[in-house]
Amino acid sequence: MTFNLETLIRPNIKALTGYASARDDFKGEAKVFLDANENPFPSDFNRYPDKEINHLYNKLADLKGVAMTELLLGNGSDESIDLILRAFCEPNKSSVLCFSPTYSMYKIWAEVNAVAVKEVPLLPNFEWLPALALDNLDPTTRVIFICSPNNPTGKAVAVENIAKLCSTFKGLVVVDEAYIDFSSVTSALSLLKTHPNLIVIQTLSKAWGLAGVRIGLTMTSKEIVSILNKIKPPYNISSANARAALKRLDKVADYKSEIALILQQKESLTTQLSLLKIVEKIHASDANFLLVRFANSTLVYDYLKSKSIVVRDRSKEEGCQNSLRISIGTSQENIKLMNALKKIEL
Ligand SMILES: Cc1ncc(COP(=O)(O)O)c(C=O)c1O
Repeated sequence: MTFNLETLIRPNIKALTGYASARDDFKGEAKVFLDANENPFPSDFNRYPDKEINHLYNKLADLKGVAMTELLLGNGSDESIDLILRAFCEPNKSSVLCFSPTYSMYKIWAEVNAVAVKEVPLLPNFEWLPALALDNLDPTTRVIFICSPNNPTGKAVAVENIAKLCSTFKGLVVVDEAYIDFSSVTSALSLLKTHPNLIVIQTLSKAWGLAGVRIGLTMTSKEIVSILNKIKPPYNISSANARAALKRLDKVADYKSEIALILQQKESLTTQLSLLKIVEKIHASDANFLLVRFANSTLVYDYLKSKSIVVRDRSKEEGCQNSLRISIGTSQENIKLMNALKKIEL
């Protein structure tokens, strides 16, 4: 049996006619807008977002080397995860697969949508292989979520292994590449043309420095995009956010130099942390954070908190006992972190 998208779409979504604004229907250059009950007096934001969204789609499609019809923008990539579940998973019938530890929102959104979650532990050292997925499928599995580089482990998945999974699994494979800009592995975007069941999610929240702007990218076949488009809210990206993103996307040199600085800082922090007696293991990271195992993570976490330094406690996650996830900050922030950690050793 080959991949058949039609059999995966929920019947109610297949039957749905999505919302279309009058401006979606109108072709040409409109001069008078009396279609959307807006306030006609000009201000920065009196119109629903339209032109700038189109511009943003154009720019991001170009940047990522996909067609505009193969791209869907969401209010953060978290919105895409929810849309995929709502389009392709039948509540109380379908299930999804993810690997632990990983980004918690796959499970949370699945639970919100009454979709069962099978969590498969990663291999030792947080390795991922296609067999981890293929050996754990059942007839209800509709979607597999892979996070690469993975949060919180930092480890990326080889694109060849994603290709193997896509070729064998007959449901949808979602690869969340929130941290791909920090990594040297090949993006799964390179597989889109040959694997119709692949959905790649990226975000402007991390390397592009736009977490406050909330823009996520979903890149996949135009058929899948058109299904997701039917269920997304009509104007899910605001004009304000689109303008902020367009401004930043013009600053490619800043984006590149900030990534280089973050990677430099990651290396330096890794060296400094490895000299501390309280540190037991630093996991190699393809992302902008480090997962660090301490002798006693609660003590470290509480001490850092008392010094107004917030890190992420991951000690309750599968295979992450005594581990904290530490984002790479500026050199000044990293110095503060190291000074505090050194005090614990005294
Ligand atoms: C792996 C992963 N995916 C998605 C997100 C959410 O990204 P966004 O800000 O685009 O919603 C995060 C945020 O931390 C993440 O770690």
